[in-house]
Amino acid sequence: MFAAIYKGQIHYKTEEPMTRTLAIISLSLLALATCSLVLSTSSHAQDQTALYLDVTKPIDSRVEDLLSRMTLEEKLALVHADSKFTSAAIPRLGIPRRWLSDGPHGVREDVGPDNWKPAGRTDDFASFMPALVGLAATWNTDLATAYGKVIGEEARQRNKQIMLGPGMNIMRTPLNGRNFEYPGEDPFLTSRMVVNYIRAVQAEDVSSCAKHFAANDQEWERGTINVEVDERALREIYLPPFEAAVKEAGVRTVMSAYNKVRGQWCSENDYLLNKILKGEWGFKGLVMSDWNGTHSTRGAVLGGLDLEMGTEILPYDRFFLAGGFRDGLNKGEFPMEVLNDKARRNLRQILETKAIEGRAPGALNTKEHQATARKVAEESFVLLKNENNALPLDISKIKSIAVVGENGTQLQAYGGGSARIKTFYEITPLEGILRYVGDRATVSYSTGYSDKPNDELAERAVKAARQADVVIYVGGLNHRPYFDAEGTDRRDMKLPYRQDELLQRLVDANPRTIVVFLGGGPVEMGEWVERVPALVQAWYPGMEGGNALAAMLFGDVNPSGKLSCTFPKRLQDSPAHAMLNYPGKDGTVRYEEGLLVGYRWFDTKNVEPLFPFGYGLSYTRFDYTDLRLQPTGNGAVAAEFTVTNVGARDGAEVAQLYVEELKPRLQRPLKELKGFSKVFLKAGEKKTVTIPLDERSFAFYDPDKKRWRAEAGDFTILVGGSSRDLPLHQNFRLAKTFTLK
Ligand code: BGC
Repeated sequence: MFAAIYKGQIHYKTEEPMTRTLAIISLSLLALATCSLVLSTSSHAQDQTALYLDVTKPIDSRVEDLLSRMTLEEKLALVHADSKFTSAAIPRLGIPRRWLSDGPHGVREDVGPDNWKPAGRTDDFASFMPALVGLAATWNTDLATAYGKVIGEEARQRNKQIMLGPGMNIMRTPLNGRNFEYPGEDPFLTSRMVVNYIRAVQAEDVSSCAKHFAANDQEWERGTINVEVDERALREIYLPPFEAAVKEAGVRTVMSAYNKVRGQWCSENDYLLNKILKGEWGFKGLVMSDWNGTHSTRGAVLGGLDLEMGTEILPYDRFFLAGGFRDGLNKGEFPMEVLNDKARRNLRQILETKAIEGRAPGALNTKEHQATARKVAEESFVLLKNENNALPLDISKIKSIAVVGENGTQLQAYGGGSARIKTFYEITPLEGILRYVGDRATVSYSTGYSDKPNDELAERAVKAARQADVVIYVGGLNHRPYFDAEGTDRRDMKLPYRQDELLQRLVDANPRTIVVFLGGGPVEMGEWVERVPALVQAWYPGMEGGNALAAMLFGDVNPSGKLSCTFPKRLQDSPAHAMLNYPGKDGTVRYEEGLLVGYRWFDTKNVEPLFPFGYGLSYTRFDYTDLRLQPTGNGAVAAEFTVTNVGARDGAEVAQLYVEELKPRLQRPLKELKGFSKVFLKAGEKKTVTIPLDERSFAFYDPDKKRWRAEAGDFTILVGGSSRDLPLHQNFRLAKTFTLK
């Protein structure tokens, strides 16, 4: 009967969602109510009182008990895939087939068992959430929690145990084709967002996957490139989000990256996987490979990989962690304990995700999910320029609007690679504007540009611009190859499809041209940027994006996003490019800029960006006053200050705190983000904001002592609304040196 229940669970995967939901409810209830009956009628009578089935027992003992019951073949089945996104069931022990799914922005559509072709199902739609780079631009950690809840609930309803996200690689270069999937250039901001995201996903009995570990910061030669990165940059820039995911969020799975770090594949990187992740950080979950990112049995077995995914070497028994592993064990090349350790890690994930007792049904595309998608989009928009209050637009004073630009109507959900979503719906910018405006004004639409240069398109757009009261231009990047797309990097930082030229002509035709860019990162901007009155960075705003955008443009929503990455004036100003060490030479990319990634470079080297990290305007204004540093014991402090909304509209401000060490023993970036708080203030309202700091806020990684250390000395605490607008500052003396655990 247990097997029957188990089969029932497998079976419902192929049913329609409603039937499936009912099946889950009834099977779960049945499973709970008849647990002892189930077990006594199973073919393995000894299982009746099996400890691993007792959910009241500690997870460690359940794992050990389950492991002790397994054969070699069953353990091996846990450590490699048996289809594109599954690992095998072990029916004898009630372990169901394990389903994994991309990705960070929603639950991806199902693909064929051994290929990437859509499975052609009718029940694999999902909510399409704004891209992670946009989530980061909200600087609202509560929204990261709400976002994670959507992912978790939808994953459960789609019967996925492991969601392959969030991505947390750092934006080292503006050209990385996957920048849109990652929360930007700063490890602190990234950490704060992914920790809440993961906690919320996992609270829904779904495992998250921190990817791609580590230093997978370009798509160019991603499957072969070797990254040479010094210890401090590794520890201070590239690893902190993973460290926080493990230590703070208890992430259950980690995906090793495709690339090599210091000459060793990440999927068999003893230093990264065994020493740092599992050793220093105490990670108890499993490390899976990226798809087809495993290279040898010995390397994977001893290097710390616990689950091999991908499908390029079929049949599955030929996987490195299948047949090859079995042979090695039989020949005594590997101790059995290595397999036990890997099996244990997989079992822990399986039990923690309640795979055996079954989970409650989840939910898809609910009103709450839609509201979260919209809220994240609304708070992600970054108002980069707004001269003479060009925005918000007052619809009562506008008779005609010319919407121009391919991204006005381009659907984004299905693009970009593994982060794609088969969305229930997607409100495009044009649709959002049309819905908002209704019959209050006429709205025309012209594509303006396309991937095939076309003078006629531009001509028509210019004509429409001339005739309209206001132009809303929606352009930027898209998910086609060589833009924001997995597997390719951008070739340069320019606006594609002659958009610079078109924008120049549009602003000639109509100076009231409002520019909205979609895209995963910065673009170089032509002279037009000096001339347009308003500019908005809208990232990829998800299924509610058009509604959110219209609400912001017409003033129902006050923009409150801040850049999660620096916008350089020119590509060669940004560190990897200034140092001429992108995309690498002879298969190796050297991170010679070291710690100076993103604003750390621009500040330390005194290079003027086009728009700095942390920057973003509002329809109101905020004042910062009264910085006080309050000791919190143990030598640390909390910064307290007042933020006042001095404008005429309600709004939200992201108060940011940076720390500068005045005379560091080792080189440090000029300043680093160590705290932030998003404050919602009515017009005229003021609030006291407290940002606690701890030893880590002052610490750097000491490569000699191999520890994080905060050394006694003088620091400046800087507070304000952008990395380059920090009106409050106060010095602080750290009285003693701390060596962190
Ligand atoms: C990507 C991963 C993704 C996996 C499965 C790989 O190509 O790098 O991020 O989770 O495919 O689709």
